Amino acid sequence: MRLPSALVNEASGSGRACQGERIGDSGACPRALLAWYAGAARALPWRVPPGAGRRPDPYRIWLSEVMLQQTTVAAVRGYYERFLARWPTVAALAAAPDAEVMAAWAGLGYYARARNLLACARVVADGLGGRFPETEAGLAALPGVGPYTAAAIAAIAFDARAVVVDGNVERVMARLFAVEEPLPAAKPRLRALAAALTPEERPGDYAQAVMDLGATICTPRSPACGICPWIEACAGRRAGIAADLPRRAAKAAKPVRRGTAWLALRADGRVLIETRPPSGLLGGMLGLPGDAWAESPPPPRPPLAAAWRDLGEVRHTFTHFHLVLRVRGARLPAGTPAPFGAWRPAGPLVRELPSVMRKALRLGLPALGGAAGG
Ligand code: ADE
Repeated sequence: MRLPSALVNEASGSGRACQGERIGDSGACPRALLAWYAGAARALPWRVPPGAGRRPDPYRIWLSEVMLQQTTVAAVRGYYERFLARWPTVAALAAAPDAEVMAAWAGLGYYARARNLLACARVVADGLGGRFPETEAGLAALPGVGPYTAAAIAAIAFDARAVVVDGNVERVMARLFAVEEPLPAAKPRLRALAAALTPEERPGDYAQAVMDLGATICTPRSPACGICPWIEACAGRRAGIAADLPRRAAKAAKPVRRGTAWLALRADGRVLIETRPPSGLLGGMLGLPGDAWAESPPPPRPPLAAAWRDLGEVRHTFTHFHLVLRVRGARLPAGTPAPFGAWRPAGPLVRELPSVMRKALRLGLPALGGAAGG
């Protein structure tokens, strides 16, 4: 049996990464995984099950992969089904008004994805005759499609031999080859290992099988090694360190930013809402008026004169910082004009807001005597 370090050194380009492992000869690892996948594939709404004998619709794969960036399958499922029911083709999505797509994305986070989704749909529908490119390079030239997403779409939609590496795949490779070097420095090595293992045959099913293995068996904590199709080959398991991998370099603590959200509730049950500027955090989304969020924020400035009072605070974590958002609220007489933005009925509004704004509305509305809805 080879030492994991020998495998690691040999992995790049050799295609023989599992050779010498107990699981068998070259190609044995992918074959064992595909056999497992035939019986264990998760039923996912965008997925064509293994053995179905047809290729998936590239539009569906693209939509699911963009939604799945930074987000879990559980969070995406409902959004995916609603999007597909409302916009069943790339042409339908391309023709949708921006505000409707942004509202339908509300709550899924990373809102640049929704802006890029629309931009990409329009490029494909208007510039490419409604057909997605079939190569990784062609896909990676589309708005919002980075190297990971391009590889995933090329593999899953077109069965191209693309190397699909996300956090799940890194974890599986780190364990299979007992890579103890911490992330992120280990990324190139883990990618080389993933590349060496990716088969010529059924690369689309293989990519999804590794994802499923990472999601259901080779999980971050307490991996279920006893039912893993790679138990024989797994060097991390043999060394008794599988659950501790991948190691990670210590991360810098996230800073805390503060801000104020102004909840103006009119006597007719409407709330003052603005559309945020198109770029930047929560760009293009609806939100309560407020000042810029900062570690040392400027004194709060209300959007209109009223008897403002403090309603408490909500907390939300973004990629690069924690936010503490103070919510100040006031009741306004019916007929008060909007200083900017628009007055929107509070109930239906909740579903169209990003999560942090939902939290603010849900905290503040009952305190003002309004109905939180949604
Ligand atoms: N995570 C990212 N892409 C995925 C996919 N196609 N299936 C399951 N999980 C995923």
